[in-house]
Amino acid sequence: MKLTETLWLLSAAASIVEAQADINLTVPRVPEQNDYPPNGPQLPAKPPPKKSYEYIIVGSGAGGSPLAARLALAGHSVLLVDAGGDHGTLREVEVPSLYIGASERNELSWGYFVRHYDNDTQTKRDRKLTYLTPDGEYYSGVNPPEGSEMLGNYYPRVGGLGGCTEHLALVSVAPAKNDWNHIKELTGDNNWDAENMKGYFKKLEKNQYLSSREDVTKAHGFNGWLSTTIEPLALYMRDLKMVSIFLSAASAMGIQTDGILNTTRKFVDGMNSFADKILPSNYTVQLADGIAKLFEYDINNDAPDRDSTDALCRIPLSISSPDWKRSSPRNWVYEIATARNADGSKRYPLDVALHTLVTKVNFDTASSKHKKPRATGIDYLYGESLYRADPRASAAGHSGVPGSVTATREVIVAGGAFNTPQILKLSGVGPAAELAALGIPVVKDLPGVGGNLQDRYEVGVSAAAPNNFTLFGDCTFITTPGDPCYASWARPNLDPLEHGPYATNGIAVGLFARSSTAGADHDLWVGGVPGLFQGYFPGMSRTVVTPSAKNYFTWLVLKAHSRNDIGTVTLRSADPRDTPRIAFHSFGEGDPAKQADAAKDLRAAVEGMRWGIRVVDDAVSLEPGAGLERVWPPLDVRSDEDLEQWVRDEAWGHHASCTCPIGADDDPTAVLDGQFRVRGVEGLRVVDASAFPKIPGTFPAVAIYMLAEKAADDILADRK
Ligand SMILES: Cc1cc2nc3c(=O)[nH]c(=O)nc-3n(C[C@H](O)[C@H](O)[C@H](O)COP(=O)(O)OP(=O)(O)OC[C@H]3O[C@@H](n4cnc5c(N)ncnc54)[C@H](O)[C@@H]3O)c2cc1C
Ligand SMILES: *[C@@H]1O[C@H](CO)[C@@H](O)[C@H](O)[C@H]1NC(C)=O
Ligand SMILES: *[C@@H]1O[C@H](CO)[C@@H](O)[C@H](O)[C@H]1NC(C)=O
Ligand SMILES: *[C@@H]1O[C@H](CO)[C@@H](O)[C@H](O)[C@H]1NC(C)=O
Ligand SMILES: *[C@@H]1O[C@H](CO)[C@@H](O)[C@H](O)[C@H]1NC(C)=O
Ligand SMILES: *[C@@H]1O[C@H](CO)[C@@H](O)[C@H](O)[C@H]1NC(C)=O
Repeated sequence: MKLTETLWLLSAAASIVEAQADINLTVPRVPEQNDYPPNGPQLPAKPPPKKSYEYIIVGSGAGGSPLAARLALAGHSVLLVDAGGDHGTLREVEVPSLYIGASERNELSWGYFVRHYDNDTQTKRDRKLTYLTPDGEYYSGVNPPEGSEMLGNYYPRVGGLGGCTEHLALVSVAPAKNDWNHIKELTGDNNWDAENMKGYFKKLEKNQYLSSREDVTKAHGFNGWLSTTIEPLALYMRDLKMVSIFLSAASAMGIQTDGILNTTRKFVDGMNSFADKILPSNYTVQLADGIAKLFEYDINNDAPDRDSTDALCRIPLSISSPDWKRSSPRNWVYEIATARNADGSKRYPLDVALHTLVTKVNFDTASSKHKKPRATGIDYLYGESLYRADPRASAAGHSGVPGSVTATREVIVAGGAFNTPQILKLSGVGPAAELAALGIPVVKDLPGVGGNLQDRYEVGVSAAAPNNFTLFGDCTFITTPGDPCYASWARPNLDPLEHGPYATNGIAVGLFARSSTAGADHDLWVGGVPGLFQGYFPGMSRTVVTPSAKNYFTWLVLKAHSRNDIGTVTLRSADPRDTPRIAFHSFGEGDPAKQADAAKDLRAAVEGMRWGIRVVDDAVSLEPGAGLERVWPPLDVRSDEDLEQWVRDEAWGHHASCTCPIGADDDPTAVLDGQFRVRGVEGLRVVDASAFPKIPGTFPAVAIYMLAEKAADDILADRK
């Protein structure tokens, strides 16, 4: 089916509430692409240029890239390896509001099909479950054509320089202090203390939304490598619907909005001719001035009650100004890898090998019976699209050119929560029985590798208006040449308002809150997005906002500090090109001991949805007859029990973590010690989302960046 038909199908279905209970969506896994070429230079794809380095880092995501940069800055020869290429200047990557498209660009997309449940009956209740039809197409929905094969839930990742930092939604929120202090308690390593970890946040942040004088709790850094900003509120105020959503959300928090509302109403009465249109900036600036104070709380402050106080606020984003582009560790690696001395020689000893799929870590096991096996380097296959999460893998028609590289100091694995345990297992480090069954020689029996998989539960409450939001005006999301919104975004102009809506990621405002079942810290984030966001399935990137359907709004609910820790990543085969089997066992599936925890998580998610539903239902309309009406979940999902079932059926995740956890010395399932060293072997560490014992904070990227900064210090301190 052609993309245009898909869009038609989706928008037609979306306008009829009943039809929504049953997404019928057959799309190519990766939609047709546009004709906007990359916007700047990218690193060339090449295999490792040398045979030996001091450090080899496998995977260039949130963990691997900052670590590579730090070690190279300290003068060490570093090889950073990634299976994908560099696509850091693709427009979908650079432009904040196009980030969802980055998840499904052929060039960088990796897509896994995961199982939320082993139970097929429960699994099939998910309205976005994906099947392969007998015609060889993807079908996502609850009525697959006869003879279809169930694939699972689509889980987007990036295989390429920067990893998932190249498509992440730019939300940059530091984790809770308790998240760090917990690791300190487990390991006895005082450097994990939240006070110390705060130093890493300051080291990496280049804050562009506060002055150092406004940073009253001294939480921020101003000279780091990650730009953080908050786009001007006035951008959202070009849209009367957004104005009313902001005010309704504030009112749901118990904030008195009567006065502002009255003023706004008067103001709006005088400009009815603007309903349906983008408000001119002389209005938007005044509106923004009027309501900015309600949302100015800085979620990355360092007050003692920061992790527990309910807050409705704008969100710090990893966007650099004044160019309003994605800021990511890929950009930092690019700078360091391409920096030159006056004589043209390389300034830093960092090489980046791309299209290089690491197939295993090699060990010296022979030296002495009494010594631990020592990591000596890696084996790899060089070639594009070798890994089968890459949508082009089956068409690639080649199996890569093998090679190997040695590490004189250490190998650090940073392939992400799915790939790091896979790489360790392929290398002989993991549960002995699982490895033996696949004929993989056991180097170290480590039962915890690939266990403890955790994620957040995410669901949405979506509403439709009878007419379009004006925020995205006549944007075509670069599906047409000459997209006017792209042209404004790209205009070299220091006034952020002039850059228009592409300078935003669309996440207008967010609530950080503690549910009735929370521990000490926030366990809910509810974020408002102008779009129809129903979770991930192949082709979803072209359905959230489309040129013809700009009349949706979604409150995304993230259940943070989720308690489920029985997910697993296991090998499907010993072929390094295969994806592993990923099973979340959501809500403690099959484990009676986990049901009380599951009930708490469900309860919290329902409370988050209730908040979203309330804001939608109570929304004050500033345009007569243009109020929001809930479309997802459909209106017949009514009681708390209905909502709980909905969460069980529909919740998805995209923050997978904890599959090679740091743990205590006496914990047999601990994979790492407090300095990221893989237990039972030498010269090998893991530095990425896998390393957390518990999923941290509300969003993981900043936590991983901080962890990578600590790892750099640990590794440098360990030099002999
Ligand atoms: C759609 C989406 C949106 C998100 N939005 C946000 C957000 O707004 N805020 C936030 O904080 N977090 C967000 N996240 C989460 C965040 O992006 C991830 O948690 C984070 O990037 C994980 O970092 P990592 O280093 O563990 O792995 P990754 O970033 O996944 O990096 C792993 C890298 O390893 C490479 N690799 C894997 N295996 C091999 C191999 N065998 N050989 C060579 N290379 C290999 C991969 O190509 C990849 O580049 C989002 C995630 C997704 C999927
Ligand atoms: C599987 O899921 C269905 C639907 O939720 C449920 O009714 C059934 O009891 C489950 N089966 C098992 C074995 O848990
Ligand atoms: C999906 O919708 C299309 C168009 O309405 C229809 O032709 C097709 O039969 C439907 N498929 C399923 C599996 O319901
Ligand atoms: C807002 O307007 C309403 C209705 O006109 C009025 O009852 C209310 O007192 C006003 N509130 C404020 C704070 O001005
Ligand atoms: C905004 O500018 C327009 C002309 O561009 C003018 O007609 C209108 O009165 C101005 N409105 C306000 C609130 O300043
Ligand atoms: C939204 O705008 C598009 C493009 O201008 C138009 O095709 C569509 O009908 C509008 N939708 C609504 C609900 O007004």
